[in-house]
Parts: sequence; structure tokens; C-alpha cells
Amino acid sequence: MDFVRVDWEENGVAVLTIDRQDKLNALNPQVVEEIGQALLEMETEGPRVVIVTGAGERAFVAGADIGAMHAMDAIEAKRFSEIGHAAMALLDKSPIPSIAAVNGFALGGGCEVAIACDIRVAAENAQFGFPEVGLGILPGMGGTQRLPRLVGPAIAKELIFTGRRISAEEAREIGLVNSVVPQGEALNVAKELAAEISGNGPLAVRHAKTAANRALDVDLISGLEYEAYQFALLFATGDAKEGMGAFVEKRKPKFEGR
Ligand code: COA
Repeated sequence: MDFVRVDWEENGVAVLTIDRQDKLNALNPQVVEEIGQALLEMETEGPRVVIVTGAGERAFVAGADIGAMHAMDAIEAKRFSEIGHAAMALLDKSPIPSIAAVNGFALGGGCEVAIACDIRVAAENAQFGFPEVGLGILPGMGGTQRLPRLVGPAIAKELIFTGRRISAEEAREIGLVNSVVPQGEALNVAKELAAEISGNGPLAVRHAKTAANRALDVDLISGLEYEAYQFALLFATGDAKEGMGAFVEKRKPKFEGR
């Protein structure tokens, strides 16, 4: 791959870095394809957590590649949107927990990558925004659908209709990011968070994510029914026996993801 690399931590955490620094990591169709391919390949290896970040200090991702989009016709634009949707679905629909380490500009498509992750850690120099309407287009990689679910429709519409950029701190205030950390620390803090998650039962975390995802899609009764099944399913795993057994035996659990 030319623009995406995956590095593995010893604790089973995978770090996916988008690296196209001369264009502030902007997403052209090849970059989006590579993100999708990397996430798909990763699924078979089963990381405990995926962290997504941008190379360099300036940008997470400064958006979809405007030059590339300028040359697209409507059919090509639809295809671009669809490969974006497919790649983003590998972040939020996958049972593997994902964290965006937002180290700088997260604009347009960059913000869409960030909000497709489960958790966002932002450096204090990060800036967020959806500048698309200023270009005569709209967010096409999930922004119009995920942002209202994340921050509520009124704030989402204000951000999308104005195209205004907001600081990391403002993003935290509206619930767009989980935490704001000093410049240069987003990846380290994301790794600490990932280590905290990866110490827990991996199957439990995956099923918890799957169950929590349902909360956004179905009514409460159906969601609770789904939760009960996920809960029950975990009782058939070695991890549940190990986790609860370790508590009873007053020792640390050793999870094997089985
Ligand atoms: N698409 C294509 N190229 C982009 C890009 C994007 N979304 N964002 C940045 N770049 C490129 C610039 O064209 C420039 O390339 P060049 O050196 O070949 O001219 C390079 O990245 C550096 O960006 P530059 O604009 O010189 O940096 P800056 O610090 O002055 O400004 C931004 C940074 C992020 C404010 C500015 O690049 C910008 O507004 N980018 C577009 C953001 C956007 O609208 N994103 C949503 C797209 S849907």
C-alpha cells in the first residue's frame, strides 16, 4: 500500500496510519481503498483494538481530496461515496473497538473517519469541521448520517450548514470527541486507552460493542432482547469462565479470546 500502514503493538493493538503528508493526508479514492483493504485484512488477524491516526503533526486527515473530486462525474462520485461507506463501516460496524487519535486537522472526510470510530482522542491543536457545502457538495462518507447520531441533529446541522471549523475543546463540549490532550500526545493517549481495553475479555468487549451499536438502530425492547442474547452467548466462552473464575479465586484473569 502507498498511503496506509498498519503497525502492531505487543498487546494486540493495531495502529492504522494514513500517510499522505504532502496533501495533509487527504483522501483520494486510492487512500480510501487502502483504508478499506487494511481494515478488512486486519479483521482476520483479530486485533484487540484498532487505532486510526494521521501521519505527521499537522493533520489527521484534511478531507476528501478536492482535486480528485473536482475531476469526478456523478457516477464516479457515487462510487467514491460508496467505497468510503464500505471502509467506514469496517470501523463502526466491526465488533473490534476503534479509536481515532486525531493529531491535527480533521475536516470533511477526515471528520467522517474520526466519527466512524467508537472513541476519539484529540490533540489540542486538532480542528474539526465539515467544509463541504462551501465547495458546493455535501459530506459523502457518512457525515450526514453519523454526525446527527453523535451530537444530535441541531448541532450536526449547524456544523454541516455553516461549514465552520471548531477547536478540539469545542468538539469535546458538544460530545464530538471524548478527550483533549496536549499536542503530540493523541496517539500515546489512544494507545493507553487501547491498552486498558485490551486487558479486558476480548470477546466480551466485541459483544458489548455489537450490543451498544444496536441501541442506535432499534427500539428499547428489541435492544434489551438483543442484549440478553449477547449476554447469554458470553457464558459459553472460556473467557467468561476465566474472568469470573479469576475473581472468585482472587487472581488476575488471563483471557484467550475463546
Ligand atoms: N484535498 C486536496 N488537497 C488538500 C486538501 C484536500 N482536502 N487539504 C489540503 N490539501 C493540500 C493542499 O492543496 C496543499 O497541497 P500543495 O502544497 O500541493 O498546494 C497541501 O495539502 C497543504 O495544504 P495547505 O492548504 O497549503 O495548508 P494550510 O496550512 O495553508 O491549510 C487547511 C490547511 C486544512 C486549512 C487547507 O489545506 C484546507 O482548507 N484544506 C481543505 C479542507 C477541506 O475543505 N476539506 C474537506 C474536503 S470535502
